[in-house]
Amino acid sequence: MADEITLEVARYRPGVDAEPVMQQYQVPLREHWAILDGLTYIKDQLDGTLSFRWSCRMGICGSCGMTVNGEPQLSCATFLTDYAPGPIRVEPLRNFPVIRDLVVDIDDFMTKLPTVKPWVIRDVDEPVEAGEYLQTPEELDDYKQFSMCLNCMLCYSACPVYSLDQDFIGPAAIALAQRYNLDSRDEGAEERRAVLTSPEGIWACTFVGECSAACPKGVDPAGAIQRYKLTAATQSIKELLMPRIKR
Ligand code: SF4
Ligand code: FES
Repeated sequence: MADEITLEVARYRPGVDAEPVMQQYQVPLREHWAILDGLTYIKDQLDGTLSFRWSCRMGICGSCGMTVNGEPQLSCATFLTDYAPGPIRVEPLRNFPVIRDLVVDIDDFMTKLPTVKPWVIRDVDEPVEAGEYLQTPEELDDYKQFSMCLNCMLCYSACPVYSLDQDFIGPAAIALAQRYNLDSRDEGAEERRAVLTSPEGIWACTFVGECSAACPKGVDPAGAIQRYKLTAATQSIKELLMPRIKR
């Protein structure tokens, strides 16, 4: 195995640079080094001006998403040796404005997320003294997969619908709505319905499935969307046949 590998890293300062330029750096090719370790080496040893986001270094915080050789990846969970002998092209996540170098602006998602009310909603909130809302393991299984979302934005970066229509609520927001819709303790599905069934919601999805392929946590947002399409269609038919039934 070679001692070094080349990282080609996108450098860009909006308002200063006319367009991104790729800059090459040689970094040590170590067996357990992730792409993030290579970038950290660049920042510490070669060029302190390189900007990128990270926090946990263990695939939990969701902040280190980047485009690696054309694919959205968590840079702390993607290894240099997987791409040897290189070079490895590292760019910001697609479909988001670039703030600087590899740092993108995810304000669009942060604005959309609360519109699907991703929290447990109860018709009547019981006082704490009333005790816990109990749940069986089977009930937990129904939504657990969707609760694994890191808000890493890899699915938005991979989504061809979002790339064309930034009004689309998007895969993670819909998966997180389903995380609560399917929670046996929640009674808020009706409050989420108007947003989810709007033109920017589930019906905008063409089920390409790239979001689920990109997800590092197996959340399967495409599956969440298709499952909610079935729920919404069933509800509409019921309301058509029995107009007084709302749910
Ligand atoms: S659904 Fe998966 S890819 Fe999308 S934000 Fe959540 S963890 Fe990331
Ligand atoms: S640094 Fe937290 S997921 Fe990569």
